[in-house]
Amino acid sequence: MLVTGGAGGIGRAIAAAFRDEGDDVVLADVRGAGEAAAELGVRGVDADITDEDSIARALAEAGPVDVLVNNAGLLSVHGTLLDLPADAMLDILRTNVHGTFLVTQQVARQLVADGRSGVIVNLSSIGGRQPTPGMGGYESSKAAVDALTRWAAVELAAHGIRVNAVAPGPVLTPMLAAGMPEGSPAREAWVNRIPLRRMASVEDVAGLVVFLASERAAHMTGTSVPVDGGQLLT
Ligand SMILES: NC(=O)c1ccc[n+]([C@@H]2O[C@H](COP(=O)([O-])OP(=O)(O)OC[C@H]3O[C@@H](n4cnc5c(N)ncnc54)[C@H](O)[C@@H]3O)[C@@H](O)[C@H]2O)c1
Repeated sequence: MLVTGGAGGIGRAIAAAFRDEGDDVVLADVRGAGEAAAELGVRGVDADITDEDSIARALAEAGPVDVLVNNAGLLSVHGTLLDLPADAMLDILRTNVHGTFLVTQQVARQLVADGRSGVIVNLSSIGGRQPTPGMGGYESSKAAVDALTRWAAVELAAHGIRVNAVAPGPVLTPMLAAGMPEGSPAREAWVNRIPLRRMASVEDVAGLVVFLASERAAHMTGTSVPVDGGQLLT
């Protein structure tokens, strides 16, 4: 299996979860892939998902991919509609939407050419369905990831390829924990929006990704499953 953005907070947990299932795991990242892979005891490849040639090189190095997790994304670029610089909006879309499209296209083309079935899981966000002021650029990209998921699912089903997404609310990655320490007003504000009164752990997200990639989810395709402690209910 291949996970993009595998050196990041959620990507590492996804790589570790598939490794623990006994899978041959390759993590791809634009920075830190080798180091993260060595820490986890999996394979690592350098890849920039915004660059078609870089993706092609990474896939050649990885070997055949039957499970793809499109996890790489930009999530720290924020700004209100009135203030977000035009270039920043394009950066978000180029990575989160176009990058996810490019990796999906190359992996799916290979699967179809080889006549192999496969599974794709995309990292969306409940932000694609519920707005938070200042986060609309990112949220627009995740709404597009949900549409991309449905698009790929409906066209690839005939080839035995399932495509789903997981849509987390805020996830307590090391980066988020450092930026919003326990007890800080920012952390409290997020937690207070969540009926289950805690943020998702990286393992909450990784467990759902493993489930969607497994035979237990054999009849699921085209969905984007929230893992949000009930935040979408509010
Ligand atoms: N953390 C959250 O609260 C949260 C909530 C909902 C969804 N998500 C989604 O989960 C995914 C992972 O988020 P995270 O919190 O682990 O973030 P992160 O920043 O820790 O990890 C993202 C990884 O993607 C990599 N990346 C960025 N651009 C890339 C590119 N062009 N090519 C290859 N790799 C690239 C980064 O180097 C990084 O390692 C993202 O798609 C994010 O939008 C995160």
